[in-house]
Amino acid sequence: MEKKFTGFGKMIYGGDYNPEQWLDYPEILAQDVEAMKQAHINTVSLGIFSWAALEPEEGKFDFSWMEERINTLWENGIGVFLATPSGSKPKWMADKYPEILRVTENGERKFYGERHNHCYTSPIYREKVRIMNTKLAEHFGKHPAIRAWHISNEYGGECHCPLCQEAFRGWLKKKYRTIDQLNKAWYTAFWSHTYNNFDQIEAPSPRGENSLHGLNLDWKRFVTDQTVDFARDEIAALRAAGANQPVTTNLMYNYQGLNYHKFADILDFVSWDTYPSWHHGPEALTAMDNAMQHDIMRSILKQPYVLMESCPAATNWKGISKLNQPGMLRAASLQALAHGSESVMYFQFRQSRGSFEKFHGAVLDHYGKTDTRVFREVEEIGRDLEKLQCLSGTEVVAQAAVVYDWESRWAMENAAGPRNKNLYYKEAVEKSYYALRKYGLNVDVIDQTQELDAYNVLAIPMAYLFHDGFAEKVRAFVERGGILFLTYWSGIVDETDLCFLGGTPHGLLDVMGLRSEEIDGLYDGESNRALPVPGNELGLENFYTCEHLCEIVGLTTARSLMTYGENFYRGRAIAAVNDFGAGKAYYVGADLEQAFYDDFYARALRAAGIKGLLGQGTVPDGVEVTSRTGEKKNYLILQNFGQSTLKVDIPNHMTVILGKESGELSRFDTLILEGNK
Ligand code: GLA
Ligand code: ZN
Repeated sequence: MEKKFTGFGKMIYGGDYNPEQWLDYPEILAQDVEAMKQAHINTVSLGIFSWAALEPEEGKFDFSWMEERINTLWENGIGVFLATPSGSKPKWMADKYPEILRVTENGERKFYGERHNHCYTSPIYREKVRIMNTKLAEHFGKHPAIRAWHISNEYGGECHCPLCQEAFRGWLKKKYRTIDQLNKAWYTAFWSHTYNNFDQIEAPSPRGENSLHGLNLDWKRFVTDQTVDFARDEIAALRAAGANQPVTTNLMYNYQGLNYHKFADILDFVSWDTYPSWHHGPEALTAMDNAMQHDIMRSILKQPYVLMESCPAATNWKGISKLNQPGMLRAASLQALAHGSESVMYFQFRQSRGSFEKFHGAVLDHYGKTDTRVFREVEEIGRDLEKLQCLSGTEVVAQAAVVYDWESRWAMENAAGPRNKNLYYKEAVEKSYYALRKYGLNVDVIDQTQELDAYNVLAIPMAYLFHDGFAEKVRAFVERGGILFLTYWSGIVDETDLCFLGGTPHGLLDVMGLRSEEIDGLYDGESNRALPVPGNELGLENFYTCEHLCEIVGLTTARSLMTYGENFYRGRAIAAVNDFGAGKAYYVGADLEQAFYDDFYARALRAAGIKGLLGQGTVPDGVEVTSRTGEKKNYLILQNFGQSTLKVDIPNHMTVILGKESGELSRFDTLILEGNK
């Protein structure tokens, strides 16, 4: 990937700003800028839901209010991420052109309402968006305030209208060329579902075809491609009208509807929105969960990214809206920086007075003044970011990667198999990720299509679907000396969800030195145990519990490290290792508890001489450690999400640029150290 985003030359601080809700309140608009300055805010996302204010009637445009706002902001040193408003269309448009309204999977056309519900195929909607984006770019594309373009908002969902169905058939024709190829790929001979021609194909529906897994998988791929194509058109309109600032769109936490890696080609930088449920269980766990999402987002382009939204107080859309305890917002905000973000941004700057989000937390609440608990913390974070300008453009360099693959997840969760209640895929990825992070490694979270060259440690949990060429890449990785962890339920099907014949994990039987023979689905509440093999080469000594899925493998050249303690497969390997080329391939056969992963991975990494950021697996409980690397400097970032206060020894060659000089880290404290490279 040749394009390179190196940040904004400063840490971006701000959030969503929706002045179109306040055009009748000039005194409030005047107060906004003063409060932003007080909070050290330097950037706002503007215009995200402004379509009705920009084009109140078809063809009648009004950019004056936006121009006034952008000028005023810029006169006060505040820049703008200018949005295209396609995330929510005006009522007049839906009334005049019903084809832009989405159709559900049951074939029902939606009425006007809510947002994020346009048809992404409709030529009329695309044309309306093109006109709007062109005008925005013509008006503001050269304005010095515009730092970047925020394309639409949280793309998502799908449309089953006749236009989308026809586009899907076209997509399939391009992919399979002949109906015979498609029939083979989808295995349509099963239950006599054979197609005679492409015109017969319908999108999956609960009212119709949903048993062809190949169809279901291709439909999801199509939805992603069509959405990316829509976004590409949006960007093309801006570019054609002369706007050349970088573009992004805001992605979502654990969103399954779109394969976000497909956005890599069209975005200059990635941005995302995070809304963790803090104080619901141990903060250290929530922090780890959020950390993994940060790393997924960073790894899409492996460049600095932007945290586009986070909540400064409590959200209003969860079952229960809990307040952040003092210090939590600051810790969560600095966590973004720890993972490579160029920004901390909030949804939203001023709390809405009415409608759906009137109780969603904001920097300024309905009281409207700055002497509030939340504002004071926002202001403190603003001061912190001013001290951390040096982080802009620096990168997180990871020697370890965990593979998390959207397409494999789609296929696995759709397949009727050993457990249909819950496969615990996300949890399986987290267990590997957490173990590597606790060892003190920066971790990229990549998909199967990305290159493995940069890594010497690779964890591949539950890679059910192997993309073409993936097994070969993994083989080469181990051969050249990499440390591989592969788990159960991997290498089962190919790209069209056809089962591999001749043994699994496909293509890696010799690399792993074993073959998966059977897999046992466990009822909820059932468990098995892993017992260490006496004298095993990793020195494993503890017993561990496993649940949900237990694979039975036959070893060829691999050596058993732990065995099952119960059931008819008692004594069979549950964890094993194989030497292959210059590397080692470790196998995890069941859904084992976190403590197993922590112990197993740490021992394997120590045996290979892998060093973490704090040595070999010595990160204190509850602490997150990451690093960022610049041209001349290195930064080490430590955050305490645990309950007790600790003291970190500051290495001689490093200085404290944020946090206590003594190295003390209380609950929610952050320490940032700087050293020469
Ligand atoms: C999403 C949206 C925002 C807002 C927030 C509320 O992230 O992008 O417009 O609705 O949720 O949490
Ligand atoms: Zn449609």
